[in-house]
Amino acid sequence: MEFSQHSANISSSSSPLSSPPVPFWWQPSQQAHFNGFWFPGSDNLRRTLKVVDSFKPQSRDVILASFPKTGTTWLKSLLYSITHSSSLDSLNHNHPHLLVPSLELLVFATNPAGPAAPSDETGGTRIFNTHIPYQVLSGNLNSSDCKVVYVTRNPKDTVISLFHYVKKSKTFEEAPWTVEEAADQFCKGVVPYGPYYEHVLGYRKESLENPQKVFFVTYEELKGDPIAHVKRLAEFLGCPVGEEAAEEIVRRCSFGELSNAAVNKSGDMFTWLGLPNNSFFRKGEVGDYANFLSPETIRRIDDLTVDKFHKAGFMYGI
Ligand code: A3P
Repeated sequence: MEFSQHSANISSSSSPLSSPPVPFWWQPSQQAHFNGFWFPGSDNLRRTLKVVDSFKPQSRDVILASFPKTGTTWLKSLLYSITHSSSLDSLNHNHPHLLVPSLELLVFATNPAGPAAPSDETGGTRIFNTHIPYQVLSGNLNSSDCKVVYVTRNPKDTVISLFHYVKKSKTFEEAPWTVEEAADQFCKGVVPYGPYYEHVLGYRKESLENPQKVFFVTYEELKGDPIAHVKRLAEFLGCPVGEEAAEEIVRRCSFGELSNAAVNKSGDMFTWLGLPNNSFFRKGEVGDYANFLSPETIRRIDDLTVDKFHKAGFMYGI
């Protein structure tokens, strides 16, 4: 498969915003373009293509798909808890990103042969996550009866969360750009796994056409009524939980509990990115964008949201 790679010197942050999109988001300061989407570097894209070429989901697999910073870590904990009775102990001792490994960042990065076979211990259920767009991964996902859970989040909070997350990377040079520049790149679609809108719409369309296969939920819906959504998720996965069990899962996976667990407070995740474990827990709120984005940028993102989501019948994101 062919892909192109664009490099940029991240210290030259003085580039005018009107210049052609320059991918600044990540070290090593480059992103690779494939099938209409941007991937954070050619190594990442190679691993992504390995997943596309080799990953054969089993019928009891659960694939958590998301655009970065939309609630992946939260959903990992919830899905793991719903499907594993011993989840409390596991969550105390393991970062959610290790309990539910990323196909492209961990599984195929550490073992080119792919994941271990399902084990009887968990009734044959394996849970993976991916940021790979549906438009790129659909062949794999539809090759078995595996279930897909997709979480999304409003675009303004997503870009703010991503901006802070990238800034926390120890390999990322000190604040090379502003939040407004980040939002500008986001709007241009030049963002890891972006464009955001096409990413969301790809999975949403499939969830509408095939609701038994793809469960689509928003971060805001989960925040609004987490217990009801945990019960819906459990039902979808074929392992229903009662009110009390749902309450306990929600409590154990809450932002307060997870962010204060010792295992999530220290150490690094994905050493090649130098990301601290705690960088997956910042504020966990809805609407934090209002503290960072100018009224003009809010209007620009809202206009884009109307154009991309509302015109496609998805009345979400403003
Ligand atoms: P903020 O940066 O807005 O705080 P991802 O897991 O996809 O990388 O998304 C990270 C975002 O989800 C961060 O948002 C993080 O704080 C928030 N988050 C992590 N765990 C959460 C939880 N248990 N409940 C709610 N939000 C959570």
